[in-house]
Amino acid sequence: MSEGRAAVRGLDPDRAAATAGPAAGPTAGLDQPGVDALPPAPHLLVTGGAGFIGSCFVREILARGDGTRITVLDKLTYAGDRANLAPVEADPTQAARFRFIRGDIADPAVVDPLVEEADAVVNFAAESHVDRSILDPEAFLRTGVFGVHVLLEACRREAERAAAGSRLGPRRQPRRAPRFLQVSTDEVYGSVPIGQAGEEDRLEPRSPYAAAKAAGELLVRSYVVTYGLDALITRGSNTYGPYQHPEKLIPLFITNALDDQPLPLYGDGLQRRDWLYVTDHAGAIEHVLRFGTSGEAYNIPGGMELANRELVAALLARLGKPWSLVRRVEDRPGHDRRYAMDGTKLARLGWRNRVPFEDGLTATIDWFRANERWWRSIRSGDWEAYYGRQYGARLSHSRPAPDPTADLAPELAPDLRTGPSRDEGR
Ligand code: NAD
Ligand code: TYD
Repeated sequence: MSEGRAAVRGLDPDRAAATAGPAAGPTAGLDQPGVDALPPAPHLLVTGGAGFIGSCFVREILARGDGTRITVLDKLTYAGDRANLAPVEADPTQAARFRFIRGDIADPAVVDPLVEEADAVVNFAAESHVDRSILDPEAFLRTGVFGVHVLLEACRREAERAAAGSRLGPRRQPRRAPRFLQVSTDEVYGSVPIGQAGEEDRLEPRSPYAAAKAAGELLVRSYVVTYGLDALITRGSNTYGPYQHPEKLIPLFITNALDDQPLPLYGDGLQRRDWLYVTDHAGAIEHVLRFGTSGEAYNIPGGMELANRELVAALLARLGKPWSLVRRVEDRPGHDRRYAMDGTKLARLGWRNRVPFEDGLTATIDWFRANERWWRSIRSGDWEAYYGRQYGARLSHSRPAPDPTADLAPELAPDLRTGPSRDEGR
């Protein structure tokens, strides 16, 4: 499977390596990111590493062959797929530095020995789909709260061993406590009607998914304050790209459109999201892991705010499919109208996104066209039951969605691409 690298400007093979050190090219002229918190050739425990963003993080890091070793711990829920790690497992030099373990982050018997070996733990594991959290919230809390607690407890034990001098490396050398990074989301801020959310703003989650993510973050903070854990939080915006599960907006609409199936647009389609390409999200997470300050949270905006209707129009134009496929369906309950974050803090740390939205969208469409087997196998089995539950009644009561180019209220038009300015405040 190819990720359409050639089509994506900025995804040169040196890019990931370039983010790894203060002397790196792309950070020149920016504030110096400071000292790398990871040892040379670190061993990373990546939980949830068989999912969309976690597998990208693993593929990108191992592909650069800098000696980093990765253990992935993943429960392989409906959203996890070992095929997402096939490029790593198929390459002997990468496979030699990679290990996959199927297991639950909420199971201390599995987690504890893995954290013992790790220089850092990056937690991607979560139930990640808002619509499923509305249908059935429990699994979100089990993984997002209890699972995070189990990981933190394992890190706390290792921090105590490091402090006592009994945490030793492979050559019996004293070893630092593991660094913990919790991958969180802009959704913890809730809907942001105007302006942009800053890291110190209040968390106001509005869906069970967002509430579980906020709870996980609060636990992380409490372990930093109470036990002095070395831990950080990232809050990424809506992410898109190859290998994304086809239940999410962009891959759902691409795959439905390829099959000339209806595209279920919730409500008026004027909800706004800020789109971040997956390699940029993964790269920013690694940058924060290396250079971030313990106890801090870092926003990772995409810098491309669009109304859903605009995004769908852009997809259809690239796919050569008609707007008549789009159906206006009953809205998501509690649907957040807008997400937007201020990225100043991350920029100060020396990170810049590399992939322009137009390139990322084209690469994503190309990837889904080229990897039909991957998404057709996911859209079989349990998929039909989920799809029927989520969309059956909605689609049978749907109506044509107004064409965005035809009927947008003139007062909405000017700010559709850029959104309100930061100066307007929240
Ligand atoms: P995903 O659903 O594609 O992947 C989640 C992975 O976690 C899957 O491989 C799944 O099998 C695994 N998993 C779930 N529960 C587990 C458990 N108890 N133990 C071990 N593994 C488990 O999700 P994603 O889109 O890749 O998101 C990854 C992380 O990034 C999540 O924490 C999510 O909240 C966050 N995030 C996602 C986005 C986005 O737009 N996708 C944006 C911001 C933040
Ligand atoms: P989604 O990909 O579920 O991400 P999130 O809810 O985390 O933002 O949805 C992105 C936007 O697309 C969101 O406003 C909901 C909307 N949406 C639809 O209109 N129809 C759909 O079928 C889906 C899945 C999402």
